Amino acid sequence: MNATTCIAISNMTPCCRMILGCKNSSIFGYSFRKCDHKTVHNLSKTQFKLCGLRGYVSCSHDKVLGYRCGIDPNRKAFFGSGSDWGQPRDFKSGCRRVNAGGRSVVNVASDYRNHSTSVEGHVNDKSFERIYVRGGLNVKPLVIERVKKGEDLKEEERRVGVNGSSVNIDDSKGLNGSKVLSSKREVSKVEKEAWDLLRGAVVDYCGNPVGTVAASDPADSTPLNYDQVFIRDFVPSALAFLLNGEGEIVKNFLLHTLQLQSWEKTVDCHSPGQGLMPASFKVKSVAIDGKIGVSEDVLDPDFGESAIGRVAPVDSGLWWIILLRAYSKITGDNGLQARVDVQTGIRLILNLCLTDGFDMFPTLLVTDGSCMIDRRMGIHGHPLEIQALFYSALRCSREMLIVNDSTKNLVAVVNNRLSALSFHIREYYWVDMKKINEIYRYKTEEYSTDAINKFNIYPDQIPSWLVDWMPETGGYLIGNLQPAHMDFRFFTLGNLWSIVSSLGTPKQNESILNLIEDKWDDLVAHMPLKICYPALEYEEWRIITGSDPKNTPWSYHNGGSWPTLLWQFTLACMKMKKPELARKAVALAEKKLSEDHWPEYYDTRQGRFIGKQSRLYQTWTIAGFLTSKLLLENPEMASKLFWEEDYELLESCVCAIGKSGRKKCSRFAAKSQVV
Ligand code: GLC
Repeated sequence: MNATTCIAISNMTPCCRMILGCKNSSIFGYSFRKCDHKTVHNLSKTQFKLCGLRGYVSCSHDKVLGYRCGIDPNRKAFFGSGSDWGQPRDFKSGCRRVNAGGRSVVNVASDYRNHSTSVEGHVNDKSFERIYVRGGLNVKPLVIERVKKGEDLKEEERRVGVNGSSVNIDDSKGLNGSKVLSSKREVSKVEKEAWDLLRGAVVDYCGNPVGTVAASDPADSTPLNYDQVFIRDFVPSALAFLLNGEGEIVKNFLLHTLQLQSWEKTVDCHSPGQGLMPASFKVKSVAIDGKIGVSEDVLDPDFGESAIGRVAPVDSGLWWIILLRAYSKITGDNGLQARVDVQTGIRLILNLCLTDGFDMFPTLLVTDGSCMIDRRMGIHGHPLEIQALFYSALRCSREMLIVNDSTKNLVAVVNNRLSALSFHIREYYWVDMKKINEIYRYKTEEYSTDAINKFNIYPDQIPSWLVDWMPETGGYLIGNLQPAHMDFRFFTLGNLWSIVSSLGTPKQNESILNLIEDKWDDLVAHMPLKICYPALEYEEWRIITGSDPKNTPWSYHNGGSWPTLLWQFTLACMKMKKPELARKAVALAEKKLSEDHWPEYYDTRQGRFIGKQSRLYQTWTIAGFLTSKLLLENPEMASKLFWEEDYELLESCVCAIGKSGRKKCSRFAAKSQVV
């Protein structure tokens, strides 16, 4: 047991604590990793000072001092099969720090799904059987095993890393002091700085790394929620760590966020749906009432109730599933996804997404700002970004769900949704010259199930900018679609992720990349890449953004340039066998990012200025750059993160409409799209 740290959650009792030796100093209520002043060379003096003020965790976990188990009397037990589903659960997860004679002891207490849970009727019973997960005594205890430390780690992490391939390019210390593998090539100064900053952004919970803060700009006195770990922002950090052979932080992140999934939060007495993942969480150090010198690390999630947009983050759960698969693919550790609690987590997210509503389409209906663009930008309804992530998450789930009697119907629902969704997007979201011309000549007001203009789009909707902008070859998936409304803006994340996940047909995917290449000056210009194109201006800006001063034309979410999109671009280019295109973009970023102090976003039509209100030392800017570099160096690893066309999905059909059926089966149509 020595040299191993566990966050141990027993399945025997709702609460189980481990007491670990730990020296800890946490200031301002959150734990930051040590800022390495020597290596973060271009930080100013003020920055050094603030780094020091943050405090850091420097723990030696190799000694287990004791073990205590007990039931927390403050907690409501959560058992049963449905009658108490949706009832308030007052879970608490934390680790206590007892300051005893200069030595602080961390005491971990956690509630990882060690309760019986059931989800009933969330997706209508005709679709698939009730999800019934019995935890309690049958559940394997959740134990996050700290990979052996120090010297032992090298060999171990080599394996956990990238299946033996030596990819670690960072010659500094890894997380928790582990020495990572030596470089295959000379690491540039910029990369070295990026690694130091990324490590400086790591957040610890009970002495274990669990994520990275959104930004750590030491000169920023009002970080708002940028001092939190955002689920979507952590993805590029996670990939950088995974590709560098450091799996532990990702595993911890996945398990801790899983725990937060069940948190009970309300906005004015209304609770969000079960299975929702938070947008972000913060590690807080809370003093314990009546106990001098004893504090507790607590994870405090935000489901959107505090975030500025006050919107439920639909993308968080989808990113969580995508990251879980990436973890397994890159580390080769399939044990994590097979765990009962993890399988339950996947099913809860799917439940929430697959629940029947009033919808007529296979696309996921969401409110404005439920994704990376997390404030009003006119993307309510069926925005492409959510559809592309939804499709990817369904493909991941299809691979990861363990098929048994209780999941076989869910798997069938997933398969059906996948093919219906891809057909819908490929058919109705796609625009190129030919399609625009078709729309231009559309008949409207067609009443029949065979209507050609199914969404009753009035040709006048074709914006004048598009007429000149659309290249002869190339095309893209539009931003949003609802009856009588097509949002023709080009949204980068959705299009890139459609390539990565094969939501688009092989031909469409190629065309998207052709368009980006053709429109390089609009979509890349001085900084990759524009979040969307073009910007909303004048009256449209006023009405759609609500006169948002942050989202002015060509700024922030309204046509700003976001370097974090670089890693998704790189992945898409690699999939389409155009790595040179990615290299060109990476070189542009490498030239400016460090000099500009790693901004969150850039403004102006060509991305020339650092964004008006852009944070500096934005973690996903840093991580996006590192991940791009690592992907380019490791094509084999990159190939584990994208998907090719799934012909099986085009074959199988449960809608019982034969080829000769009166109505068209979308499966046959989907197949013909590809063939
Ligand atoms: C902004 C972005 C959002 C990101 C967050 C933290 O709110 O819109 O996508 O997750 O900042 O970086």
